[in-house]
Amino acid sequence: MYFDEEPKHSLEDFYDREGELKEFLDSIRAGRKLILAIGLRRSGKTSLLNVGLALANLPYLIVDVRELAKFPRATHSDLLRILERAIRRMVERHRVMDFLKRVKGVKIYGFEIEFERGEKKPDLGELFEELDRWAGKKGKKVVVAFDEAQLLARATTWRFQMFLAHAYDYLRNTIFILTGSEVGLLYDFLGVDDPEAPLYGRHREEVKLDRFSEEKSRDFLLKGFKQARVKASADVIDYAVKKLDGIVGWLTAFGGKALKMGTRKEVVDEVLEEESKLSIQELEHFLNVRMIAKKRYMVMVKGLAKEPLGWGNLKSLVEKECGPIYNKNFTELLHNLVKAGFVEQRGELYTISDPVLLYALKEKRR
Ligand SMILES: Nc1ncnc2c1ncn2[C@@H]1O[C@H](COP(=O)(O)OP(=O)(O)O)[C@@H](O)[C@H]1O
Ligand SMILES: [Mg+2]
Repeated sequence: MYFDEEPKHSLEDFYDREGELKEFLDSIRAGRKLILAIGLRRSGKTSLLNVGLALANLPYLIVDVRELAKFPRATHSDLLRILERAIRRMVERHRVMDFLKRVKGVKIYGFEIEFERGEKKPDLGELFEELDRWAGKKGKKVVVAFDEAQLLARATTWRFQMFLAHAYDYLRNTIFILTGSEVGLLYDFLGVDDPEAPLYGRHREEVKLDRFSEEKSRDFLLKGFKQARVKASADVIDYAVKKLDGIVGWLTAFGGKALKMGTRKEVVDEVLEEESKLSIQELEHFLNVRMIAKKRYMVMVKGLAKEPLGWGNLKSLVEKECGPIYNKNFTELLHNLVKAGFVEQRGELYTISDPVLLYALKEKRR
């Protein structure tokens, strides 16, 4: 069912993305060591990871880093908890645990595992080395995926850049896959473009999950309703296609809700309304750690919510409201918005990337 709102696990429920899936699987089969899957929030990254890894036919581990999002800063124990969960799921799935026997700080009872905490906690480098060694003995590759990897920046006790650079160079049998919605932040966090950073210069494959075209969005909705044997008028579908701007997660949310509440236009607005609070919170979170430029950022996003603007017009708008600003500084602010995924460039114009945030900025007239 396309309109099931959980991230998808099977190909049957996963609409299209043939090109992306092929790229993803080809990269894995070619044994690429670092693969990034990137796209906006709700663009289908977790689903691609699930569906792709189920097809790749290799042992894998998915670390759900979103669990760290709840707190501004994560402790080492939080980090251990999400890794422990990932390993438990892998053990359940593949019934592999031999490699864990060699890792100090991991307790094993039957098919249950537990990490020690405090002084006796496991060493993460050792853990991944043993996993790699185990895969080598089996003559296989093993996949280690970090879903929403940029959030690892909150776990300051783990120097992830160093870890990954070292793993890239020395672990022969491990393929790392990282997903991220805040693409620029992910690059910054990994330091892939920074000559001073440990990971600089390592090859990376990138699979991008773009928004659906209008045609695909329409087709997705039509097929989804058909699966559920529900009729939807062209009028309502057109409205949803226009408002939800090709983001598969919002299309799915609309479909799921429409099956329960009827296929009406208002359901589209309800999806936007329901999600808007969270997207405003995310924006506020971004602004609150950037107090000095907060007002200018706000003028920019509000301006872009009214209409897409080019660099020059957006700068004039900011100057009108907040006084003169150097080109270089203005460009930097704009880049920060792009990096964080709030704004994107389409041709010459800048726009708000997420239709939910666009709605929130328009409706709330904040
Ligand atoms: N190709 C697809 N076909 C059907 N549903 C999808 C597809 N991609 C994503 N979805 C749905 O969209 C929503 C967001 O997907 P998810 O994989 O969680 O995105 P992300 O990880 O990028 O935030 C979920 O409800 C998921 O079921
Ligand atoms: Mg996800």
